[in-house]
Amino acid sequence: MARSGDIGKAADVLRAGGLVAVPTETVYGLGANAEDPAAVSRVFQVKGRPPTHPLIIHLGAAEQLGDWVADVPETALVLAEQFWPGPLTLVLRRGRRVPLEATGGLETVAVRVPAHPVALELLSAFGGGVAAPSANRFGSVSPTTADHVRAELGDAVDFVLDGGPCDVGVESTIVDATGDAPSILRPGGVTPEDLEAVLERPIAVGSKSHIRVPGQHPSHYAPRARVVLVEPAEIATAAQAAQEEGRQVGVFLPPSCASVPVKAHAVVAVPASMADYARGLYGFLRELDERGCDLIVASLPAEEGLGAAIANRLRRAAGPR
Ligand code: TXA
Ligand code: MG
Repeated sequence: MARSGDIGKAADVLRAGGLVAVPTETVYGLGANAEDPAAVSRVFQVKGRPPTHPLIIHLGAAEQLGDWVADVPETALVLAEQFWPGPLTLVLRRGRRVPLEATGGLETVAVRVPAHPVALELLSAFGGGVAAPSANRFGSVSPTTADHVRAELGDAVDFVLDGGPCDVGVESTIVDATGDAPSILRPGGVTPEDLEAVLERPIAVGSKSHIRVPGQHPSHYAPRARVVLVEPAEIATAAQAAQEEGRQVGVFLPPSCASVPVKAHAVVAVPASMADYARGLYGFLRELDERGCDLIVASLPAEEGLGAAIANRLRRAAGPR
């Protein structure tokens, strides 16, 4: 865990143009001073991410929002007041303070206030905005512990702030709040139901938004092992068939199948609670890679609550490579 003095050191690294791995409640971020184009460019280099894929700017308090965006529509204000600090990212019109390097050239910018005490302490000590994507190589599984970051990025990151394991475990929900009718660009830690309760109307997921969303490749959040999705009732037979063909099969066994005997190389018992599942998801994928699996057989949870974000990540982990 972070020791006394670490926050000051991390803030100095950011001021000097370096990169800091920052714990957030969702996943670890690879942070740079958002106003330093050279530092922001290094984030893309280290991740191996195309420069057109925009980053999220992390702020220490909702009151700072107006400094970073061109205008704050009423709906955005309501959502910020309700969900910040927390796993919600708002896409708004870019303010002049935001360099185009951070937005991948877009005239919109993604902003959030994370709900992690270490991240908030760092943002307060640093004072500015921290541009941070998830701290993984492009296309792979996001890190939810400091060890995941060290294993994946090693010396490429100047300082790793250890804030313990992430509580939410999947990334923030991204909402296009540029217009009157907000829409969900990426499901995440704030559920569609939570948003609808506050907005008092249904919220569209995906396609309805008119804004461009780079960085939404079909394959993403992917472990080394191939991922296949089947119906829960087919998991045991699918796993056994692949295992008999000589594959090293890892299984995500849903709670409804907990008593079904499964022949596989490794089995992860999927937690019944969606919050526990989200928290564990990326660690489970990493664990099955580490145990030498070359195929992971899983099924989608019901797409309500956090299940929407989990299903989104599993579909993309299973996407064409
Ligand atoms: O929970 C999270 O959101 C984590 C933590 C570190 O905060 N961050 C994260 O960042 O997931 P990243 O870079 O892995 O995903 C950010 C996504 C991009 O892939 C892109 O699709 C979207 O946010 N995005 C960023 N700026 C945008 C913009 N101006 N318009 C539309 N989408 C944008
Ligand atoms: Mg990411």
